[in-house]
Amino acid sequence: MDNRNLITARNLDKSYFNNNRELHVLKEVNLEIKHGEILAIVGPSGAGKSTLLHILGALDRPTQGEVHFEDKDISRLNDNELSYLRNRNIGFVFQFHHLLPEFTAVENVSIPGFMYLNSSGIEEVKDKAMNVLRQVGLGDRMNHRPSELSGGEQQRLAVARALINDPQIILADEPTGNLDWKNSEVVHNILWELNRNKKQTLVIVTHNEELAGRASRIIHLVDGRIV
Ligand SMILES: Nc1ncnc2c1ncn2[C@@H]1O[C@H](COP(=O)(O)OP(=O)(O)OP(=O)(O)O)[C@@H](O)[C@H]1O
Ligand SMILES: [Mg+2]
Repeated sequence: MDNRNLITARNLDKSYFNNNRELHVLKEVNLEIKHGEILAIVGPSGAGKSTLLHILGALDRPTQGEVHFEDKDISRLNDNELSYLRNRNIGFVFQFHHLLPEFTAVENVSIPGFMYLNSSGIEEVKDKAMNVLRQVGLGDRMNHRPSELSGGEQQRLAVARALINDPQIILADEPTGNLDWKNSEVVHNILWELNRNKKQTLVIVTHNEELAGRASRIIHLVDGRIV
């Protein structure tokens, strides 16, 4: 871990509007994420953890406040620029993994690699996809569709997909939410190894206290505020 900020969030507020009613989900959130750190975000259901992660990962915009990725103010980027930033720099592991059901494991992993690519790179992306699948222990499941994988394997596939473009940061939303102890351990070890070997920054939303305890820092989000 070094002392530079990879992501800086200032005074984030987020409201959702349903039927003209405002739901104030994030309140004055300030957060600095350092290069190479492992940050755990914990808090009760509905506290705003996923919302915060989506905003940090440029998947959603705050109602107020700013997010900087290194020295870039991402609120100034248009949708194409945001999509490029996400694709090249940020690996997202979703709370509900959002794997594409029609595609095989190797295709699910390759797809983010195919974006912004000229045709000459296609074979390299496929090789890379096979490598990351081996890295997460799915070397012999390359051609399985998500429905043909166990829950733990699907979760590892989602991690592999997040890795294809060597992102600087992985944002993982309950990556072990539905897994038993042993499978959780496998997913943790993969993430921690990435941090150790590739200096990837990790932000992990988790209900698993043991996992949170192994992070370099824990923040508690309660009712939309860091406490
Ligand atoms: N798109 C949306 N429109 C309206 N309200 C939303 C939307 N997304 C989330 N919310 C509301 O915002 C609040 C925070 O949701 P969020 O998903 O961030 O919580 P969370 O901390 O991740 O909870 P969990 O631990 O259950 O995943 C919830 O009360 C939820 O109902
Ligand atoms: Mg959530």
